[in-house]
Amino acid sequence: MKADPQLKRHLILKQLADGKFHSGEELGALLGISRAAVGKHMKALEALGLDVFSITGRGYRLSHPMRLLDEQEIFSHRRLPQAPPLSLLAVVDSTNSFLKGHPQLQIKGAACLAEAQTAGRGRQGRKWVSPIGASLYLSMYWAFSGGFQAIGGLSLAVGVVVAESLRDLGVRGLRLKWPNDIYLNERKLGGILIELEGQANDINHCIIGIGINVRLPEQLSKDIDQPWADLSHGVRELPDRNLLVAKLLDNLHLALEDFEQTGMKSFSQRWSDLNLYQGKQVRMLCGTQEYKGLCLGINRDGALLVELASGPKAFYGGEVSVRQG
Ligand code: BTN
Repeated sequence: MKADPQLKRHLILKQLADGKFHSGEELGALLGISRAAVGKHMKALEALGLDVFSITGRGYRLSHPMRLLDEQEIFSHRRLPQAPPLSLLAVVDSTNSFLKGHPQLQIKGAACLAEAQTAGRGRQGRKWVSPIGASLYLSMYWAFSGGFQAIGGLSLAVGVVVAESLRDLGVRGLRLKWPNDIYLNERKLGGILIELEGQANDINHCIIGIGINVRLPEQLSKDIDQPWADLSHGVRELPDRNLLVAKLLDNLHLALEDFEQTGMKSFSQRWSDLNLYQGKQVRMLCGTQEYKGLCLGINRDGALLVELASGPKAFYGGEVSVRQG
């Protein structure tokens, strides 16, 4: 039987992760394949966004060493006594789709992580650029009873968890842009996509997807339609991805339990403290309408409060977007 090509590519990636040169011969011997076959796998990895180059006579090398995700390491850093299942995949279409497609994994706190996504999704139908090993692609399942009302502001609470977890690992200059964006030095570092599964009675089955750029290859700039940042722009030494994942999973789990009990109560002030536009002039774009005013923060439902000339107005999610100015 032919060995799984994904498995071979993952083995190659593991070798290259040290950032040193590895010859086609050495990699071929390790995998029991020819140099030409190694070359083909390398092309496939490049197509997944791997930043690798080759020099005749020396072999292949990554532009930077890479910390690959490792289940044991993640577990060694976790603090929750009984962590729900974690699916760690090399390549997947989308971690959100994976959880959607596996109802048996729809247990509160169950999560999925991947090194690469081939069809990563962003908000409003956009694609999420998801090169291999260069970011975090994470989804967690949670169920909330109480109908839609019970999940107002959920993505803002998740944003607080992400920003505070990164801050605890030494990342400075983080802000949140209403409703779902994580910013670093005024550029987009990450985003949150919450998708709802089947409306059974009053239960919201939520798939909470989080994407955080860790070290994106420069050549991908052209594929991203807005100013972006990655963690390498915010710290001298990149945080260990496995430690970051463990912190995110634990903090998210605890925050979702809290949100389930008391909604935005413990998140509203923390969100406003991280608000990119707090106290600044903003423009609210709602279809063809535009409103200008001073950004005051959020209310208990997660709506953005803006002081217009006519008085304060609360803006709810959906098709509304906010700009400075
Ligand atoms: C956005 O800002 O547009 C939201 C981006 C969300 C991306 C994450 S990556 C993990 C999860 N899987 C997906 O397909 N999307 C989310």
